[in-house]
Amino acid sequence: MKIKKEIYLSLKKIFTSAEREIQEVNNITELNNFQSKYLGKNSIISFYFNKLIQLNISERKECSIILNDFKKNIKNKINNKKIKLQKSIWKNKKNKSFFDVSLPGRKFERGSLHPITMIINKIKNIFNHLGFLTYYGPELENIYYNFDSLNIPKHHPSRSINDTFWFNSNHILRTQTSSMQVRILEKYSYPIRAIFPGKVYRRDYDHTHTPMFHQIEGLIVDKAISFANLKWILENFIFQILKKNVKVRFRSSYFPFTCPSAEMDIQDKNGNWLEILGCGMVHPNVLKNCNINHNIYSACAFGIGIERIAMLKYSVSDIRCFFENDIRFLKQFV
Ligand code: DAH
Repeated sequence: MKIKKEIYLSLKKIFTSAEREIQEVNNITELNNFQSKYLGKNSIISFYFNKLIQLNISERKECSIILNDFKKNIKNKINNKKIKLQKSIWKNKKNKSFFDVSLPGRKFERGSLHPITMIINKIKNIFNHLGFLTYYGPELENIYYNFDSLNIPKHHPSRSINDTFWFNSNHILRTQTSSMQVRILEKYSYPIRAIFPGKVYRRDYDHTHTPMFHQIEGLIVDKAISFANLKWILENFIFQILKKNVKVRFRSSYFPFTCPSAEMDIQDKNGNWLEILGCGMVHPNVLKNCNINHNIYSACAFGIGIERIAMLKYSVSDIRCFFENDIRFLKQFV
């Protein structure tokens, strides 16, 4: 056991001098040097570790315990010193850096709703106050609900591939939220007062048209619904959404699913009339498709172009601005 004693004594001596030495270490470079001196390739401990192979099993076991203990203790000392050095570095930095209280604070950008979403929410609010319920329907629509059930003839130009995004022979991206009319009439009992907001799609692209835009469809079914009810609701709606007295007019028009049909125009500040929605009394054929007796019930409907309202409300002349995601444009509505 001579070797065990020799190792023990020599490491003890080395450990005492290492303890002294580490107290004098003042920076990370010195600490690195210290580490390689005591634990590195040419250190005394490596020398003894290499010697272990020459010993018999029991000696080897006992000596390696001593060596590993030494290694562990030195490592602990190094780690503690490292933490101490780091702390003092931070402390120094803190003391040195000058905190300028007059600097402006850090600004956090806040997200907000898209202007079109804000308009939809406002419109929903107005109609919800009048007792309308809100329903949502699929954008990938069956042609029955988008065209056939709405009395739109097979040869109607809106069915052409130049106007509409066809998915397959039976499905399209809906071209109007009117497609929700029959879905709701089939599902719910009357009277009904409902609105259907959502995205619609058409093959159009210029400063007043985009391939995707938003509509809100409205539908009222009851026993004595007349055009007068429809007019009052729409005039009242325009006044509430634009928050100013604008001139409106109802112009006779044609839609296959309403009779009589009309379009509502608003006069802008230059005196021009702008079309903002279509409306009318629901056509008896549409009611028939849903087994509603049109001698007892009558219905009126309207379809509002959301972007048109937004453009008017915020004086935006190019509809494409809403969908280009230019943050400078969108920020104006926060
Ligand atoms: N769906 C029509 C369109 O997209 C708008 C419309 C017109 C809706 C008349 C209606 C209506 O409900 O009665 O142009």
